[in-house]
Amino acid sequence: MKKEKVVFVCKECGYESVKWLGRCPECNSWNSFVEFNPKKDLRSTSISTSQPVKLSNISFENTEVRINTGISELDRLLGGGIVVGSVILVGGEPGVGKSTLMMQIAQKIVSKKTVDGQSYKVLYVSGEESVQQIKLRAQRLSIDNDNIFILSETNFENIVKTIEEISPDILIIDSIQTIYSDFIPATQGSVSQIRGITAEIVKLAKTKNITVFVLGHITKEGEIAGPKLLEHMVDTVLYFETEATQNFKILRVYKNRFGSTSEMGIFEMTQTGLKEIPNISDFFVHHAEGLVGTVTTCIIEGTRPILTQVQALLTKSYFPQPRRVVTGIDYNRAMLLISVLEKYTGISLVYEDVYLNIVSGLKTKETVIDLPIIVALYSSHKDFVVDSKSVYIGEVGLTGEIRFVSFINERINEIIKLGYKKIFLPYENKKNTDEKFLSNKLVEIHFVKSVKEIENIVV
Ligand code: TYD
Ligand code: MG
Repeated sequence: MKKEKVVFVCKECGYESVKWLGRCPECNSWNSFVEFNPKKDLRSTSISTSQPVKLSNISFENTEVRINTGISELDRLLGGGIVVGSVILVGGEPGVGKSTLMMQIAQKIVSKKTVDGQSYKVLYVSGEESVQQIKLRAQRLSIDNDNIFILSETNFENIVKTIEEISPDILIIDSIQTIYSDFIPATQGSVSQIRGITAEIVKLAKTKNITVFVLGHITKEGEIAGPKLLEHMVDTVLYFETEATQNFKILRVYKNRFGSTSEMGIFEMTQTGLKEIPNISDFFVHHAEGLVGTVTTCIIEGTRPILTQVQALLTKSYFPQPRRVVTGIDYNRAMLLISVLEKYTGISLVYEDVYLNIVSGLKTKETVIDLPIIVALYSSHKDFVVDSKSVYIGEVGLTGEIRFVSFINERINEIIKLGYKKIFLPYENKKNTDEKFLSNKLVEIHFVKSVKEIENIVV
């Protein structure tokens, strides 16, 4: 007789081994291995008997139906609304506003009608808060609707029962770490539990055509507990980010089976919930008079150009080794730019502390901020004011050359729209700059070749 295959799973972290081990090599906990029979122990709610279909016979009717939430930042982020029947993972640190956002999304959805004129039904399952606590939040947000059902429950089997009873169109699981299944031999919040339950949720979503939002806490290391385990199971991954000093929240797409990634939406937390910030360039650029060490640039986040400012502060150093403090930009990149500036303009920063920053705590990996950083450093070193109506864009190479950047016309368009008067661009971009921008009277475009001509760049 063929022996049943069993594996041993660490109760703490979900590590699997074919042998029983006294100590888990993954998380180092002792005596944490339990026997696990994948056939017996993995619960199954649905035995689907799908039939093969001829590719040519598959119709597009009713596939990819999208719900436009009316929260334009979110709709754009998802590639034009929520895809019905998809599973969306929303990750973020505790307190960032996940529950608030979900409540607001729920409210928007129930005010819409399905294709056949029905109202959407939302089931909000919270394993973290009591129904009263959820009601309090809803009151703050002025949300009240008969089609939003609240369930305070942590047992997955009970949740499935409720889903079968009220058959919602939208299911919100807040949060995946708090839900456990009796059939999975691991502790609540462990990888086995999270993985097992998410697999069941995906099955439910696909068989019953329910759109599911799975909320997950990110650990301090910045990962959703159950390291990357959920990402491949779900259709879309959104991360909600913030920083202690920032009063805005950024929702980013990390994966999307139904749209582009690298989009972002920006929200502000107010007394009455999250508000969209539609004109974000205004948010990141402080339209003041020109300032020493403050330079405006235009980065692209996703498909959207955003104007922002970099700032440099150079002061006399009292340390044997001058300080270099950098926020929002890659540290090594900043050091490289300081060296390029010293080498090709002949100035020396050895006796100066350097502080570099992006205004409003924005972070970017875009290299177009090289040139603005060079100009900001130079401005602070020489103590002159940079024109507040000028925008600088350009990657800087190791020989001081200013290099080609992408999406040049999109950037110029945004800059002109916001009323800037001068743009400094890489010379290499001249050939792909739209003729209409070259000949326009609204803005002066200067093409620059190298950091060596810094005197011409800062006019
Ligand atoms: P919450 O959505 O509970 O965060 P998460 O679910 O990600 O843990 O709320 C986050 C914070 O937002 C909380 O500290 C309270 C605050 N808040 C507001 O400022 N305004 C509001 O209208 C609401 C509902 C919450
Ligand atoms: Mg919450």
